[in-house]
Amino acid sequence: MKILVTGGAGYIGSHTCVELIKDGWDVVVVDNLSNSSSEALQRVEAITGRTIEFHQADIRDKAALSKIFKTRSEMHHHVEPKNEEQNNTGNCSIDAVIHFAGLKAVGESVEMPLEYYSNNITGTLALLEVMREYGVKNLVFSSSATVYGDPHALPIKEDFPLSVTNPYGRTKLMIEEILKDLHVSDPSWNISILRYFNPVGAHKSGKIGEDPLGIPNNLLPYIAQVAVGRLPFLNVFGNDYNTVDGTGVRDFIHVSDLASGHTKALPKLFTNPGVVTYNLGTGRGHSVMELVRAFEKACGREIPFKIVPRRAGDIAACYADPSKAQKELDWKATRTVEKMCQDTWNWQSNNPTGFNKIHTG
Ligand code: NAD
Ligand code: UFG
Repeated sequence: MKILVTGGAGYIGSHTCVELIKDGWDVVVVDNLSNSSSEALQRVEAITGRTIEFHQADIRDKAALSKIFKTRSEMHHHVEPKNEEQNNTGNCSIDAVIHFAGLKAVGESVEMPLEYYSNNITGTLALLEVMREYGVKNLVFSSSATVYGDPHALPIKEDFPLSVTNPYGRTKLMIEEILKDLHVSDPSWNISILRYFNPVGAHKSGKIGEDPLGIPNNLLPYIAQVAVGRLPFLNVFGNDYNTVDGTGVRDFIHVSDLASGHTKALPKLFTNPGVVTYNLGTGRGHSVMELVRAFEKACGREIPFKIVPRRAGDIAACYADPSKAQKELDWKATRTVEKMCQDTWNWQSNNPTGFNKIHTG
């Protein structure tokens, strides 16, 4: 079975490629490398001992996407796909798409809303149109816990009310709605919407990990760069929340656990479930200061920090009820916060400047 992974060179995408290959899926990656390096895919090949078919293209480029679907159909059937949907249907050897490609920084989305709507919404529409053209109607979509806004209760269940406060979050919520409309119009689509909580950590090999451009926005990569001396200290955004120690609480999930959530979501798609939505989290909240202490243990160094005012738009606490994914996908996160910090440190200390490649795009 062949899986097209959009955004497969990125942080979560590269880790998911490892798990997919491990579980025996064939992987094709499309990525424009706007926030990643092709070196990540070479490292995935080194980890798995398998070659990955990679296409450097923008998902908004329908001609380029078509080529990827068409190439595969020609390789297997030696027929020229026609323009009509029914003539392409069945001629394509891609069985499902896992769709990671998009922009993801909340603050940047406020500054550059058009880029976010274009990459995320227009990009997804282009992908869906080409999938429809080739009769590929199985999709796993990367959504986010950000669609729950400031939750009225904890832990968060999938049927909680949805609300968003920034362009990035709106793209995720809009895409969820688009996917539901698509399924209403054609029930032969099968779509798994995965709402990620806070992905952290790195593959245990230390060969791949999160490699943000510039100064990191997110907590763990920031702490990791303080630990290797690239940044002088951590800013802790507020210690006056109504939480265990006053700092923000999040559901940090190891990226390899998150990745295996995707390999579990795939077989479910082939049981014709329609549109299904799952939280991917551990079900446990940890505070910012708990993460700082766990990271200090993992790296054996002190992490200097300063308490600064709250960051605009942050909520006090957020963690998942992951029981639906456990029940329906037989998936559960198993790695501890200690392991998340150890693996982040292993990646960061072995690769102090990340993939050390000039980012393109
Ligand atoms: P990432 O930036 O590392 O990966 C995204 C990949 O998509 C990158 O390799 C980038 O080059 C590529 N890309 C972006 N726009 C593209 C386009 N128009 N055409 C082709 N490729 C394009 O981010 P990630 O952390 O791996 O996130 C993957 C997905 O998960 C995103 O959709 C993100 O919104 C979602 N998500 C991430 C988090 C998180 O905290 N990391 C949380 C919730 C949801
Ligand atoms: N934090 C700091 N200092 C920093 C960075 C973060 O104190 O330098 C704190 C934040 O205030 C928050 C916690 O660490 O309390 C986690 O912050 P992150 O930026 O790492 O993560 P968020 O929970 O804000 O957001 C992340 C992704 C979003 C996604 C959301 C889903 O960045 O894209 O998880 O839950 F939508």
